[in-house]
Amino acid sequence: MLTTHTSLLSGDTLDERFVALNTFLLEQHSIWREKPFIQQQLSWEADFPELSSWLQARSLAHAEDSHADPYSIPAPHPFGGWAQRAQQLCSVDTFSQAVLGARPLRMQNGVTERKWQQIEAFARAVHGDTEQSFTQTQGWLDWCAGKGHLGRYLAWPDAKLECLEFNPDLVSSGRAISQKYLTHAQHTLCDVISIESTVPLQRSGTVVALHACGDLHTHLVRQVSAQQTVALALVPCCYNRTQADFYQALSKQGQASALQLDRDDLGLPLTATVTATIRERRLRDQSMAWRLAFDLLQRELRGVDEYLSTPSLPSTWFNKSFAQWCGDLAKLKNLPALPGQNWSILEAQGWQRLAQVRNLELVRGLFRRPLELWLVLDQALFLQEQGFIVKLGEFCAAELTPRNLLLLAHRA
Ligand SMILES: C[S@@+](CC[C@H](N)C(=O)[O-])C[C@H]1O[C@@H](n2cnc3c(N)ncnc32)[C@H](O)[C@@H]1O
Repeated sequence: MLTTHTSLLSGDTLDERFVALNTFLLEQHSIWREKPFIQQQLSWEADFPELSSWLQARSLAHAEDSHADPYSIPAPHPFGGWAQRAQQLCSVDTFSQAVLGARPLRMQNGVTERKWQQIEAFARAVHGDTEQSFTQTQGWLDWCAGKGHLGRYLAWPDAKLECLEFNPDLVSSGRAISQKYLTHAQHTLCDVISIESTVPLQRSGTVVALHACGDLHTHLVRQVSAQQTVALALVPCCYNRTQADFYQALSKQGQASALQLDRDDLGLPLTATVTATIRERRLRDQSMAWRLAFDLLQRELRGVDEYLSTPSLPSTWFNKSFAQWCGDLAKLKNLPALPGQNWSILEAQGWQRLAQVRNLELVRGLFRRPLELWLVLDQALFLQEQGFIVKLGEFCAAELTPRNLLLLAHRA
């Protein structure tokens, strides 16, 4: 059995951890794949009725309190065992943080405090690594750079910077900001998935990518290997933003795994909402409660006991009354006219179901991090197979961003 202690993952521990996570995720597949929002009855509930009833008796406030840290709730067997194993398998150290000179105060203009702190933590972690590819690089390539705040932070005061970004407004704003602080900055309008990113990757010293989504980061991982890039610092994001119907594993171990991950599965790590505001949470809850109430209605109306997917709706829809909202959604889904209802009872049922759903979701929540670590390890192992020396750890606290896994790779 794997003994886990907290440390950065590198060398053999990358492989060991991947194997252990793979086994855990496969063994508990039926527990984390099913979504309480869509399925009124989950298959594990028959096996663990005490756990199911305990969770469903809790309030919405209880669910909200436990959402970010589901591991410690005193739920009946076998919840504690799953929680303990998940935590054990996800323990990774935080990268050492170098002390860096203060950047000009105005450099932070237009950047939220949270994003700025992420950038600082990323830069400190990259410089905290003793590897010279990071500490003494002559140039940085910021992949999916936005306005290039991260790259500029790293390149200041006199290193070279190239930013790749496909939104022209961000490219021109980024260019204007860089002119104030750097002498060698280039902001290139480029779709990173296209052939145009090849030359920048070949000429760059170190590539950095903070919160590059799905295909954008898996493509980068493949390309740094193909284009002989020297070093990479990557924080992946939005694993489900991918063209493929199923996750295309990169490493040999990943490809050999029996785990087949569709886009819904890939969205699981993103269900943590630690950075949402109170207003955003309220809107999310209202939307979910109304959709759950509508679900009860549509099952009856269609005579089909199945979830009917509904599109995401503009927030102005929630200015309508609940009855109007249901009627308009029914029209949108080409359902027959809605029969008369006691709308307040139906809405209350939606909120009650929401409390149950959010508490049942705590079980899936235990598997968010294991799945995320499995995905990032697949990329780490691929880079290792390609001859890179790789380290994987956290670069900041999850409260700053739940997407806090940083992968550092440089050529051996
Ligand atoms: C989540 S943001 C991250 C931006 C920045 N790295 C940060 O952390 O603030 C992702 C960025 O990728 C850009 N992007 C999306 N698809 C792209 C593509 N195919 N090529 C280049 N940039 C892309 C978006 O415009 C956006 O600026």
